[in-house]
Amino acid sequence: MNAIGYVRSPFQKTSEIPKGLGAKHEAEGVIEICKEFAEGLTDIEGFSHLIVIWAFDRSSGFDLIGTPPSDDRPHGVFATRSPRRPNPIGLTVVELTGRDGRMLHVRGIDMLDGTAILDIKPYLSNVPAERLRRGWLADAEKRAG
Ligand SMILES: C[S@@+](CC[C@H](N)C(=O)[O-])C[C@H]1O[C@@H](n2cnc3c(N)ncnc32)[C@H](O)[C@@H]1O
Repeated sequence: MNAIGYVRSPFQKTSEIPKGLGAKHEAEGVIEICKEFAEGLTDIEGFSHLIVIWAFDRSSGFDLIGTPPSDDRPHGVFATRSPRRPNPIGLTVVELTGRDGRMLHVRGIDMLDGTAILDIKPYLSNVPAERLRRGWLADAEKRAG
């Protein structure tokens, strides 16, 4: 896989990115799509939210069990959003606030500046809220009060 673009983010270091229970992801940034893929943005403006698939390009190795910042108990990597995973792929739902040619202005980014973007898809949620289960995260939130 090759990058289709790169993020311009306010975050230079991972420590600057909000983490843990109650962390809010409201940071604004720009996703700059490479010229050769820009035509693929046709009609994207109509979507309020996008799924951004990206590479944890500054992470190496993986842990099958780890303790995430939102809990004090360990969980399996596939039950978390850890950057240390066998295939270092990240997924973030962002709000599309505007488009300027091949620049997408977005809100809700949690990636470092310069992160490589692998794909973008429109976000279409079709899971009713009452059918969603939040697993260990719901327990951690309850314990934290
Ligand atoms: C917990 S992950 C969640 C990312 C995404 N929302 C997901 O669910 O796949 C977010 C963390 O990944 C790390 N991170 C962000 N950009 C990165 C990059 N380019 N390479 C490696 N780690 C990165 C930061 O520590 C950030 O707080």
